[in-house]
Amino acid sequence: MQQALSASADAPVLQVEALTLAFGGVKALTGVGFSVQPGSITAVIGPNGAGKTSLFNTISGFYRPSAGRVLFEGADITRTPAPQRAKLGLARSFQNIALFRGMTVLDNIKLGRHAHLKTNVLEALFYVGRARREEAELRRDVEERIIDFLEIDHIRHAPVSALPYGLQKRVEMARALAMQPRVLMLDEPVAGMNREETEDMARFILDVRDEWGVTVLMVEHDMGMVMDLSDHVVVLNFGQVIAQGAPAQVQADPEVIRAYLGAGDVGDLRRKLRGEQTVAGVA
Ligand SMILES: Nc1ncnc2c1ncn2[C@@H]1O[C@H](COP(=O)(O)OP(=O)(O)O)[C@@H](O)[C@H]1O
Ligand SMILES: [Mg+2]
Repeated sequence: MQQALSASADAPVLQVEALTLAFGGVKALTGVGFSVQPGSITAVIGPNGAGKTSLFNTISGFYRPSAGRVLFEGADITRTPAPQRAKLGLARSFQNIALFRGMTVLDNIKLGRHAHLKTNVLEALFYVGRARREEAELRRDVEERIIDFLEIDHIRHAPVSALPYGLQKRVEMARALAMQPRVLMLDEPVAGMNREETEDMARFILDVRDEWGVTVLMVEHDMGMVMDLSDHVVVLNFGQVIAQGAPAQVQADPEVIRAYLGAGDVGDLRRKLRGEQTVAGVA
C-alpha cells in the first residue's frame, strides 16, 4: 500500500494535479488542479456540462485520466482501483441515487460498512471471534451512531424504494458514512430537494465535519448552500478551473459571473445569490 509522505496537520488531505480527461473528442477536464484541506468543506461548482461529475468520477477512480495525478494523504492514488480508494477513506455518494432499492435502509447502510471490515473471508474462518466482534461493532456503529445522527431511526426497516427522495439521499449519505471515510464526496447532495430538506441536509453536512471530523468535498448547484457552507470553492467551466478561493472572493470574480452569464443562467444566478449575500456587479 502507498505510504503517506507527510502527516503534517496542514498538508492537504486530497490533491488534484493537472487532471485531463477526454471522452473521444470531448475534453471533459483540462489541467484541473486544486487541494482539499483536512477538516474543510470544499465545493466544486460550475454550469451544467462543466465537468463536475467527471471530476468526481476521476477522483474516486471510476474514470482514468489521460494526464495528471490524484493524491490522497500524500500518496499517489491515480492508478488505485475505486474500491481500494474507498477503503483508504475516500467515500462518495452519487448524483443519481445508487442504493439497492429493494433492500431496507439498514441493509443498505450495512453494505457501506462491509467494504471497510478488516476481516476477509479466509481470515474469518480462522478468527471467528474477531469476526464476531467486528459484526457486533458493526451493528453498534450503524444503529447507534449513523442512524441516530441522520435521524433515520423510524425508517431503518423500510425498503428504500418506499422512501421520498430527500430521505433516500440521506440514506445514501448514511451508507457513505458507514465506510468511516476521512473524505466524504457528495455529488449534488441537495439536488431535487425542497427548502426544508435542503436545510436538513446542510445541517448534516456541517455536523459531519464538525462532530465527526470528516472532510467534505461536494459538487453542488445550490449556490446559496455552497456559499453558506464552504470554506473553499472551486469553479469549473468547460472542464477548466476558472476561479477558486473563499466563497466571497469567488462570488465577486468577474470570470465566474461571466461563466454563468455565458451559460444563460443569469436569472438563475441572481436567484441563487439573492438572500444573505450580495454579489458585486450582479445583484
Ligand atoms: N460518459 C461520458 N461519455 C461521453 N461524454 C461524457 C461522459 N460523461 C460526461 N461527458 C461529457 O463531459 C462533459 C462534462 O460532463 P459532466 O462531468 O457530467 O458535467 P457536470 O457534472 O458539470 O454537469 C460534458 O460535455 C459531457 O457531455
Ligand atoms: Mg454532474
